[in-house]
Amino acid sequence: MSERDIASLYKNFESETEGINSAADLEELRLRYLGRKGLIAELTGSIPTLEKSERAEFGKQVNALKNRIISLLGEKEKFLGRGSGEARESVDITMPAFLPELGHRHLITQLISEICGVFEKMGFLVIEGPEVETEYNNFTGLNIPLEHPSRDAFDTFYLKGKNRLLLRSHTSPVQIRVMKSRKPPLAVVVPGRVYRPDATDASHLFMFYQIEGFMVDTNIRFSDLKGTLEFFLKKIFGPDVRMRLRPHFFPFTEPSAEVDISCNICNGKGCSTCGRKGWLEILGAGMIHPNVLRNVGYSPKKYSGFAFGMGIERIAMLKYGIQDIRIFYENDLRFLKQF
Ligand code: DAH
Repeated sequence: MSERDIASLYKNFESETEGINSAADLEELRLRYLGRKGLIAELTGSIPTLEKSERAEFGKQVNALKNRIISLLGEKEKFLGRGSGEARESVDITMPAFLPELGHRHLITQLISEICGVFEKMGFLVIEGPEVETEYNNFTGLNIPLEHPSRDAFDTFYLKGKNRLLLRSHTSPVQIRVMKSRKPPLAVVVPGRVYRPDATDASHLFMFYQIEGFMVDTNIRFSDLKGTLEFFLKKIFGPDVRMRLRPHFFPFTEPSAEVDISCNICNGKGCSTCGRKGWLEILGAGMIHPNVLRNVGYSPKKYSGFAFGMGIERIAMLKYGIQDIRIFYENDLRFLKQF
């Protein structure tokens, strides 16, 4: 076969292609030229019968022909795909679409709404405060003395600058903000981020969430605090949960208590989660210190109030039996999708 034969073979192919207007016919044409027993295969197969000197040149020409055929077939295929009804049939328009993967709120966000929801039912307002605070609101106004260890730079992130701004180390400063800007009666919960320069481990992060709560009015008593907390804890941990108060010290409350719940893993019998004690520490609380009331311009003779504060991650860990606080913020969807 000569060069001219190869050229005319391509011409034939071209004119055949032109006449085609269905994908099936195009496939038939492709097989006839490029198939295992097609024309190109036949040409390639004939190479060994040629004179040795001609083989290389002929092989090259057959290869070039094959490439031209492939590219023309490709073009024709595209053309048919655009135009003919038959080609469009190969797209099944009834197939369900790929749905976008929908996310959902993070476990901690869900828990914050759940907790705030419980307090809102009792008439509390949800108010937020800034994460950058003054030293006064974070400490002094809350009756935390200058020499208190939490005021040390090792325990609080201070910002650069003369005015001693800091990243709040608890949500309690919002008590000061709210009480200064409003008048009793007040019932407020404050969710938000707090910061402490702690080394990260299974139970510490440098950033975590707290919820603060407080109520101020004439004649607010310790029993109001107890009843409020008991209602809240039963809503979050179930009706069988028991609560106990242990005397404690906080500068901003007097008297103060640490509040425990019966261990929800062993139901109070004692297990590894509760350190065999049967109780889990869940929050701090107390009656607002008269000095704090004075600091915001309330008369302790007229008003009294209670306050409490808790860490959200800790509540989530106890509620769901989570062992390591770091997992909340590792963005591991295998974990997050469970909630
Ligand atoms: N602010 C305290 C802390 O971060 C928690 C706390 C304890 C808040 C007792 C209160 C309270 O309002 O009465 O550890």
